[in-house]
This record gives sequence, structure tokens and C-alpha cells, in this order.
Amino acid sequence: MDNESGTGGGGGGGGGKVVVNRAMSLDGFIAGPGHAMDWVGEHMTSETFPEVVAATGAMLVGRGTYDVAQGMSDENTSYDGGPQFVLTHEPPVEPDPRVTFLTCGVEEAVATARAAAGGKDLEILGADLAAQCLRLGLVDEILVYVLPVLLGDGVRFSPPGEHQVDRIDLEPLATAQSGPVTMLRFRVRK
Ligand SMILES: NC(=O)c1ccc[n+]([C@@H]2O[C@H](COP(=O)([O-])OP(=O)(O)OC[C@H]3O[C@@H](n4cnc5c(N)ncnc54)[C@H](OP(=O)(O)O)[C@@H]3O)[C@@H](O)[C@H]2O)c1
Repeated sequence: MDNESGTGGGGGGGGGKVVVNRAMSLDGFIAGPGHAMDWVGEHMTSETFPEVVAATGAMLVGRGTYDVAQGMSDENTSYDGGPQFVLTHEPPVEPDPRVTFLTCGVEEAVATARAAAGGKDLEILGADLAAQCLRLGLVDEILVYVLPVLLGDGVRFSPPGEHQVDRIDLEPLATAQSGPVTMLRFRVRK
């Protein structure tokens, strides 16, 4: 079932890859109505694709994603993907020792988080943040976990708006199955 293949380096600079990584319902949503994320925890854990966790050296997260994760149980958010950076225009008043808040531009944020990844991959989490990274040509790969559910509404893989992603061509690299989850990996053509 598993035909995952090696993907080599990317992103320039000889470090790990910059990977947009997300779970998606079959109808193309990465969060349900009201930012519901329960459907992800029902189908997968960090053990579903341990090789992805092992390949990840750091995570760069949009503030929207961070805020949603704050309201979820650790069981559904714990993921040892290395140091976590959160991009925001305004860090919260209360510090959070688990993350580093960044207030710089997207390119600098990616460079900072990539440097902390120690040569492993940098994972980009968040709809708006990922859209900006894709538009700026900063993304090497997109990794999608397709979950066996239709959500009907919610946050789209590529939401409309200021940072809407126009056509980007992708090269299929690998597919893999783990339990109910189908993983699709694509290289971003530049
Ligand atoms: N299914 C999955 O695997 C998956 C993965 C990740 C996220 N999600 C879901 O996606 C939803 C969140 O997506 P989202 O669209 O809100 O996007 P997001 O990318 O998580 O967060 C957007 C926020 O990030 C900050 N930001 C973005 N660009 C910035 C910049 N250039 N400079 C400074 N700050 C910047 C801003 O926060 P401030 O307003 O504070 O400045 C912005 O409002 C949640 O429901 C989350 O659960 C799902």
C-alpha cells in the first residue's frame, strides 16, 4: 500500500525542506465550522505517520492556528516537531514558554524557523500563513492527510481573500496509507 519515496532536499541553502502539512476532509476543508478540529483527532495521532514527525525539525504556525490549538486538549495537539514559532502582529500579553512568537515578515519568519530545524524539515501550519508562503515561493512540498470525512463547511485548503493562492502546479511524489488516513505528498513546481 505504501509507496512513499525519498524526496531529497529542497528549498535552497542545503537545509531541510519547507513543507506545508495539513489534514484535510475529502471535501477540501482543513477545519470544520467554527474551526472544529475534532475530526482530525478521531482519525489520526502523531503515531499515524511517525516518519513525518521524525523528519520535522521545527514548526512555523500562524496565530490563528495557535489560538485554536489553545482550546484543544494536549492529546489532540501534542506533536514533537521541534521548536515551535508563532507568527503574529501582536504577541499575547501572557508569555508561553512552549513557543517563540515572531512579529517579522513571512520570509524572515521562515528563515528563522528553518535555521532552528537543524537541517530537518520545517513544517508550516495555518491556512493564511501557508497561503502567504506558497505565494512567495517559499514552499518545497505540500503534504496532505486525506481523512475519511465530509465536513460540508469550514476553512478551505485555500481560503479566498487577500492571500488567496492562484494556480500553482505540483508534482506528485508519494502516497501512503496508514489506517484510515491517506497521505499525499507533492513537490511545488517553481
Ligand atoms: N487541518 C490541519 O492540518 C490544520 C493545520 C493548521 C491549521 N488548521 C486550521 O486552520 C485554521 C487557522 O487558519 P487561519 O487562516 O486563521 O490562519 P493562520 O495562518 O493559522 O493564522 C493567521 C494569523 O497569523 C498571523 N499572521 C499571518 N501572517 C502574518 C504576517 N505576515 N505577519 C504577522 N502575523 C501574521 C496573523 O495573526 P494576528 O492577527 O495575531 O496578527 C493572522 O491573523 C484553524 O481552524 C486551524 O485549526 C488546520
